[in-house]
Amino acid sequence: MSKYSSQRIQGFSETVFSKYTNLAKKYNAINLGQGFPNFKEPDIIINAYKQAANDYQQYAPSTGMPILKQMAAAAKSKLIGKELNPDTNILVTVGATEALFAITQAFINPGDEVVLIEPFYDAYPADIMMAGGIPKYVPLYPQKDGSWQLDFDDLRAAFNKNTKAIFLNTPHNPTGKVFTANEIDKIIALAIEFDSLIISDEPYEYSSFSDFVSPLSRTNAWERTLAISSVGKTFSVTGWKIGYVTGNEKLIADLHLAHQWIPFAVATPLQIAAAHAFEQANQKGNNYFRDLRTSFMKKRDILETALEKSQFRPLKSEGTYFIMADSSALGYKDDIALCDDMPKRFGVAAIPPTAFYCDEHKYLAKNLVRFAFCKTDEMLIEAAKRLSK
Ligand SMILES: Cc1ncc(COP(=O)(O)O)c(C=O)c1O
Repeated sequence: MSKYSSQRIQGFSETVFSKYTNLAKKYNAINLGQGFPNFKEPDIIINAYKQAANDYQQYAPSTGMPILKQMAAAAKSKLIGKELNPDTNILVTVGATEALFAITQAFINPGDEVVLIEPFYDAYPADIMMAGGIPKYVPLYPQKDGSWQLDFDDLRAAFNKNTKAIFLNTPHNPTGKVFTANEIDKIIALAIEFDSLIISDEPYEYSSFSDFVSPLSRTNAWERTLAISSVGKTFSVTGWKIGYVTGNEKLIADLHLAHQWIPFAVATPLQIAAAHAFEQANQKGNNYFRDLRTSFMKKRDILETALEKSQFRPLKSEGTYFIMADSSALGYKDDIALCDDMPKRFGVAAIPPTAFYCDEHKYLAKNLVRFAFCKTDEMLIEAAKRLSK
């Protein structure tokens, strides 16, 4: 760090994704670490991209292009079973990443506590801390049947009068857990009791293999919930960095006050392209969303079956494009030692999940490893061969 670095960034270091992607490159290993699709982008998005090249290229309105807000609202309304107003309930952001940053800037005061479920997406603590907030960590525990469960007594104990928000992520990266309606309702009840916001990070909403429930779909959570979506994940174009936030008029208006000073507006042609893609996917008879889900389920099955035949013990993945596995049988000191060695030993790179736990809870993930299965079937089959050796 330079002598000029701010206190805000003390303790930050390179993300695990950069480290293991570089290691994969060094050993020419199959990169099942970072979660970016390597298959051909869907025609629906590439055609929309070409169409947008001839469209408007100047600044978009700060809240987002009306056509994208309209199409995204139509898709989200259908998903959550609630009619959304594109003008007031949607804000377009630079990916889910900017949405998370803008939300923490708009709603978290220094000293506010924020409940995070572990393993967490690694931007959450960083964003909360940059806003001066204090993360409070509550782990999910892997069960004998491979599912992941919260201890609701732990969760209740993490709430108090200073709790400004809880971050929920469903379907959940990195476990693949999809929170059930019952779990969502219990989380909402706690948020109501302690008058906290619910920040529901839902970039994998269209890649849920079991029933997806957003707290937004619950009338009693509407006044306190913001849900985050990612066009990059929905259309397998992570490089586009477009997302949007859905919520009630007042929360969206507050959020916009922070967003206008972060990027001001999001890339116009990509917004138009995303709108065209949603427009097609929303059409009656178009099975885009269903096909996305079934293709990821197939990929999950390929990797899960391969892991079952190896020394890794896969846990349940019910959504996203990630699966966690227990690596105890391989006898490594910890997940970092394993992931440092995997590209060389197996020719496959993966991510050590202790990166997604606070220091106190890292021991929970020492024998775990995260694999991404958003890769071509051929690549997954080759990775499967290598892992079972
Ligand atoms: C849980 C979660 N939230 C947010 C993001 C960031 O999404 P985006 O690429 O749209 O910024 C990701 C990306 O991996 C994610 O997994």
